[in-house]
Amino acid sequence: MDISYTAEHLRAAAVAAVRAPSMHNTQPWRLRLRDGGIEVLADPARRLPATDPSGWGVRLACGAALFNLRIALAVAGIPARVRLRPDPAEPDLLARLVPDVPRRPTPDEQSLYAAIPRRFSNRMPFWPNPVPADARWRLGEAARAEQCWLELLIGVSAVSAFGEIARSAHRVLERDPAYRSERERWLRQEPAPDGVPASAGGPQSEPQDVLPARGFGGRDRAPGRDFEPEPLVGVLGSLGNTAVDQVVAGQALQRVLLTATDAGLSVSMLSQPIEVPTAREQLRLSLGRFGMPQMVLRIGYGQPGRPTPRRSVGEVLDLPVVPA
Ligand SMILES: Cc1cc2nc3c(=O)[nH]c(=O)nc-3n(C[C@H](O)[C@H](O)[C@H](O)COP(=O)(O)O)c2cc1C
Repeated sequence: MDISYTAEHLRAAAVAAVRAPSMHNTQPWRLRLRDGGIEVLADPARRLPATDPSGWGVRLACGAALFNLRIALAVAGIPARVRLRPDPAEPDLLARLVPDVPRRPTPDEQSLYAAIPRRFSNRMPFWPNPVPADARWRLGEAARAEQCWLELLIGVSAVSAFGEIARSAHRVLERDPAYRSERERWLRQEPAPDGVPASAGGPQSEPQDVLPARGFGGRDRAPGRDFEPEPLVGVLGSLGNTAVDQVVAGQALQRVLLTATDAGLSVSMLSQPIEVPTAREQLRLSLGRFGMPQMVLRIGYGQPGRPTPRRSVGEVLDLPVVPA
């Protein structure tokens, strides 16, 4: 059977794709329809030159959007076969999806799909309740299903050793005026279709915090509402660190985030120790895992919150012009 994806398939799946997380909510992706396939492209105009000089963050975000696309197409009954970076002559083309044999979605695909509009980064303190073993296991399985690993740091000393690496990376970044002004440029005090709304930024950091917050916040902390003293920290890693590995890691990131949402958990991301090469190397050595750390997650039970805005789907689509 010869089937193609249509503009209608793309439009519907794109609604899910654009809900993916991205650095500073830059939404650095484009989606296009070509020869019956759907293509995911990095949008270089939306890369953060100071914060993400290598494009790692763009590829993670596009990988996450790709995962949402895959799930949405599977739930629509036409799952995709995916080729990553299919054309060396076009490095911004990160993935091409072509229709596979139609089938009914699995229960897992359905629950991941249902989690897409509910997921958001929760930068507020979490409740101290521990994350149960079965939920931890599910998160690890989600990473493994996408050819990645999730290392959960166990014990106060592992978390505080990580905290030191993360805080020193944070200090290195904060010394760079271009990094700071980029963050300020993407912080939104007024409603906007991209950038991080100040209301989502979390509270101002305090010296006693174990983990460094990126600094989108500014809200005063309610008395006694410190961050959890022993957060559950997960390090997501991939087997290698090529551009393709980073797109793979983005898909794993989104699968872990949606699995967490489905399990009633909240997550915030913290990538300062990934962005500073010496910190990333220290983190890699401290874990003793094969491969490369790609993202750090703080996981727990959070208060309710709200998903952040996105640009309209029309702004990211590139559809063939139909002749009049
Ligand atoms: C590659 C990458 C790095 C990120 N780094 C951080 C970070 O260091 N601190 C943080 O608070 N959020 C971080 N985020 C989360 C984004 O700020 C967030 O996804 C974006 O603002 C959209 O909000 P949402 O996740 O609520 O949809 C990161 C996201 C990605 C994809």
